[in-house]
This record gives sequence, C-alpha cells and structure tokens, in this order.
Amino acid sequence: MSFAPVDNSLEGRVLAADLFTENGILLLPEATVITAAHVQLLQKQRISEVEVLQELAEGVKTNIRTQLMELDADEKTVAAYIEALDKTKSLFDQASKSETPELAQFAEIFDQVAEQSMKQLGLFRSLYVLEGADSYTYRHSLNVGILCSLIARLIKWDGERVAFMGTAGFLHDLGKMKVPTEVLLKPGKLTEEEFAEVKKHTLYGYQMIKEMEGSSEMLALCALLHHERLDGSGYPKQLKGDEIPVECQVLAIADMFDAICSDRVYKERTSPFEAAQLLWKEACNGKLNIEIVSQFVRYIALLYVGARARLNSGEEVEVIMIHQDEPMRPLVRRRDEFIDLRHDRKLTIEKMIG
Ligand SMILES: [Fe+2]
Repeated sequence: MSFAPVDNSLEGRVLAADLFTENGILLLPEATVITAAHVQLLQKQRISEVEVLQELAEGVKTNIRTQLMELDADEKTVAAYIEALDKTKSLFDQASKSETPELAQFAEIFDQVAEQSMKQLGLFRSLYVLEGADSYTYRHSLNVGILCSLIARLIKWDGERVAFMGTAGFLHDLGKMKVPTEVLLKPGKLTEEEFAEVKKHTLYGYQMIKEMEGSSEMLALCALLHHERLDGSGYPKQLKGDEIPVECQVLAIADMFDAICSDRVYKERTSPFEAAQLLWKEACNGKLNIEIVSQFVRYIALLYVGARARLNSGEEVEVIMIHQDEPMRPLVRRRDEFIDLRHDRKLTIEKMIG
C-alpha cells in the first residue's frame, strides 16, 4: 500500500481503503479501480492524496473511463466467462440426463470465472453486455453465482461463506433441467398448470443437489428456497422472515437482480442502476432483506459516478456523488447547477444514458 497524489496518474490504480468525505459520506469503496471521473470527483472534494494498492489492476486498460461508459467489457473477463458458459452448458445438460455431476466439477468452472470477474470494476458490463444464442439458464446461473459471491463480500462474510454463496448461486436453478423444455421456453404467458410445473424447479433442484457428492443441506436449501420472500409471498413453502436462511435471502436478491437486468421483454435493456432501483422498491415493500439490498445497491450506484442519466422531468444530468443513506438518490449536475435528489423528491432517475 502507498499514498498517491490525486491527478491523472491515478487512473487505473486500485483504492486500498474506503474513502469518505469530511462529513463521513462514503465517496468510493475499497478496491475501486479509479477512473478519470473519480479523479475529478476527488479533486472537487479537495482530496489531495489517497491510499492505493501497489500494482495496477490486472487487465485494466489505460482508458478505463471508456471501458466503463461505453459498455466495453474487459476481454479477459469475457473470455473466461464464455469458456465457463460452455462448460456450464455441458454439465447442466449432463444433469438433465439424470447423471448428476459431482459438486467439484461445478466448483472448478465457477471458481475460475468468479476469480476473474471479481477483479473487475466492469463486472456488470461483462455480465450484461453479452448477447448470444446460449440458453438463458446457463448464463443466469453463472451470473447469479458471481453476484452472490459479490454480495457475500460486500456484507463482509468470510472467504468460506463467499465461496459457498458462489456455488449456491451457480446451482440454484439446476432443477430447471428437469422442467419440460416446452414449458420452460414457452414464449408468452404460462397457464396455471405450466407455472406450477416451473415452480417445481425448486424441489427438483433440492433433490438433485442433495444427491451430489460433497454437497450440504444448506446448498440444497438454497435451491429450494430462493423464491421465498420475507413477507411470505414466495414459494414453494411461503416461509416468512427469519424462517428463510440468510443465505437464501442473499440468493433471492442476486436472482431477482439478474432477472431484471436480463429481461428481454423491453427493447431497451434495463441498466444495473435501474435494476437496483427496482430491487430497492422490493426491499421497501418487505420482500427482500433491506440491509443487504442497501449495501448491494450502494455498490452498484457507485459504478455510475460520472455517468449521464435522464430524469423523469426529461432533463439530462450527470451523476456526481452517491450518498451513503440513499444511494438511489444521488447528487447530480444539470449544466452548472447541482441537484440533490434526496431533497428534490419529485425528481427521479428514469434512465441511464451513458
Ligand atoms: Fe429459480
């Protein structure tokens, strides 16, 4: 660790510790890869030096701002991801033919891609920029695994639990391999019977994971209970609050987030910032664990410092600073004027535009 002056040479360096303003508002979290927009932000806050890690982040190119703002995913991450996707497909196919693979086979694939993704600030870019003919379930599994381990890190769980959550996320929808394809891939609305069939993926997943060599009851429970909601509105058991293990609560958050980001119903892709807003709403409605959602949402919001957004008033603004208490209502700049969305409650961010 060392201190570095706040100027353009800081781009691409990695923050060694959380950085706060004078009045204790989190500016940038530990492990942020610093962009040109961050340098401007620090200069505005009159911060003259910051603590950074020694080396530059691996795979991070000089023009990080472009990488972040133009949805240009890091090549290495994309390569690892595509390779993992391929292997995931063959393992999941194997599972569908009732030859349940060993847990270690899943773990091997997942660990590689998780490792790679975690090093990148552009994680979300990598996950949500990729389009392809590959089946939704494989990609969703991989994404949810990555998101689960990210959330576990954000809430400061230990390494063992972080690894567990990655695997749990990766395997949560394995039971879908037992749901008839014509139901699973049916375009349009499902009938009541068809939906009941889809819901069974939780039970199938539980059984499949229980049978796996090296698995555990909690891992199987994660597949069983990832559609439960804290207010009792989920399935298959309509559990409430603490009856749902916290691991399954984390999984529910990651699952919903990826589902929103990957939803193809809308032509315009939902950005992670917008997905985070929806997640926040669900948490406020008592369905998701609000403490965990708030940490996750804050992390995502921080990725959008320096990005352009459109307000519900139609005006374009730049996101300047994320507040600790209400990350979804940042300080924004409209031409020369600053607007604090915490105070202007009628205004909301409608769409991220760059
Ligand atoms: Fe599911």
